Amino acid sequence: FSRRAVLGGAGAGLAAGATAGVLGGRAAATPAASAPPALGRTAVPFHGTHQAGILQPQQARVQLAAFDLTGGDRSALRQLMKRWSDTAARLTRGEPAGDHENQIATDAGPCALTVTFGFGSSLFDRIGLTAQRPPALAPLPAFPEDALDRARSDGDLWVQIGADDALVAFHALRVLQQQAAGTASLRWQMSGFSRTPGATDRAMTGRNLMGQVDGTNNPKPDTPDFAAKVFTDGPGWSAGGSYVVFRRIRMLLDNWENLPTDRQERVIGRRKSDGAPLSGGTESTPVDLAKQNPDGILAIPADAHIRVAAPASNGGAAMLRRGFSYQDGLLPDGSLDAGLLFLAFQADPARGFVPVQRRLARGDSLSRFLRHEASGLYVVPPGAAEGGYVGQGLLD
Ligand code: HEM
Repeated sequence: FSRRAVLGGAGAGLAAGATAGVLGGRAAATPAASAPPALGRTAVPFHGTHQAGILQPQQARVQLAAFDLTGGDRSALRQLMKRWSDTAARLTRGEPAGDHENQIATDAGPCALTVTFGFGSSLFDRIGLTAQRPPALAPLPAFPEDALDRARSDGDLWVQIGADDALVAFHALRVLQQQAAGTASLRWQMSGFSRTPGATDRAMTGRNLMGQVDGTNNPKPDTPDFAAKVFTDGPGWSAGGSYVVFRRIRMLLDNWENLPTDRQERVIGRRKSDGAPLSGGTESTPVDLAKQNPDGILAIPADAHIRVAAPASNGGAAMLRRGFSYQDGLLPDGSLDAGLLFLAFQADPARGFVPVQRRLARGDSLSRFLRHEASGLYVVPPGAAEGGYVGQGLLD
C-alpha cells in the first residue's frame, strides 16, 4: 500500500479514516488549510490497538536494533518499557524526549516517526516468565544456505524506528539506548532506507536494490482476512499483537546485474519496468500462475520467486512484508555490503514465514543471488493505550 494514499487520505491501501482511528495512521499535527501536510509535520500516533510501524507505509529511514537485558530483573524491565513507551509517545508527537534529550532532532517535526517494540524468546527465560512465552515464538528452523551471524541476530528486546528523516530516526535510537543504560545494552544495530515521500510524481510501490518493484502482492488491509493474517488473537497478553521475522539478506548485486533484464524478470515472475506479472496486465492484475505462453511454456516459470512464495503454493501462508534496503560499506572482496533488511509481520510464523522460506531456500531462482546473514523472531505486543505502556499485559 502506498505512502501518498495514506498522506492524501485517498484510494488504495489504508483508508485515511481507518488509519487515523483504530489503526493509528498519519495526520498533520498542525495541518494547513488546503496544502498537503509538510513531510516534517506528519505525525503517527504511538497509542492504539496495534503498535505503530506495522500498517504504515515504510518511511524513508529505519533504525533497527536489538537489546539484551543486563540483569534479570522483571521490575527493571517494566520501568524500562514504561520509560521507552513514554518517550516514544513524546517523540512521535514531535516533543523533546525529556530524559537524555540531546537535540539531534531539534528543529525537525516528527517526520512520521514510529517506534515499534518486540520481545525475543530469550527475554522470557531471562525474567522468569518462561510459562508466558507464546508457543509461536519457538526458534525459527535452520534453512538451507543460511549463513547467520548470531552476534547480529536474536536479542531480548527488538526496536524498529522508522522516520522520514535520518536525524529524527537516529535521535530516537540514541535516546532509547541511553535511557536503557543499566537495564539493557545494545546487541546489534542496523540502518536502512526506503523511498522518500515526494520522490515520485504519484503514489507508487517502492523498489529494492535489485531494481524490482517490491511490495505489490502484500495482504491488503481492506480485505476481510487481513487482520487474521497479521495480528494474533492470543494467548491473553499478546492478543492484538503480531510476530515479526527479521532477516538481513545480502544481495549479490554484481552477479545480479550481469543478468540480462529478461532473465531477471523470469527470476521474479514480474516485469522490471512496472512490476506487472509475466502472465499479463499491469502491476495490480492478479497473477495467473497457470498461464502458458503460445509455446506451451509457463508464463511465470516454475522456480520464479512469486510462484514459490505465493500463498497458493504454501497452504495459504501469508505475511505483511515491510522491508528496508541497506548499504553498509564494502566487504573484504570489494563488493558492496548491500541488500534487504527483510521484515515480515504475521499472526503466526509457522503459518507465514517458515513454510515460505523453506520452499524459497530449497531453490527459487532468486535465492542464488541472496545470502541470509542475520535473523530474528520477536513477538510484537499489542499497542499501548494512552497512559499505558507496551508489554503491560505481560509485565504488570
Ligand atoms: C514477492 C523480492 C525475499 C516472500 C516479491 C516480489 C519481489 C520480491 C520483487 C514481487 C512483488 C511483490 O509482490 O512484492 C524479494 C527480494 C528478497 C525477497 C529481493 C530478498 C532480498 C523474500 C523472503 C520471503 C518473501 C525471504 C519470505 C520467506 C514473498 C512473498 C511475495 C513476494 C510472499 C508475494 C508473492 C505473491 O503472492 O505474489 N518478493 N523477496 N520474499 N516475496 Fe519476496
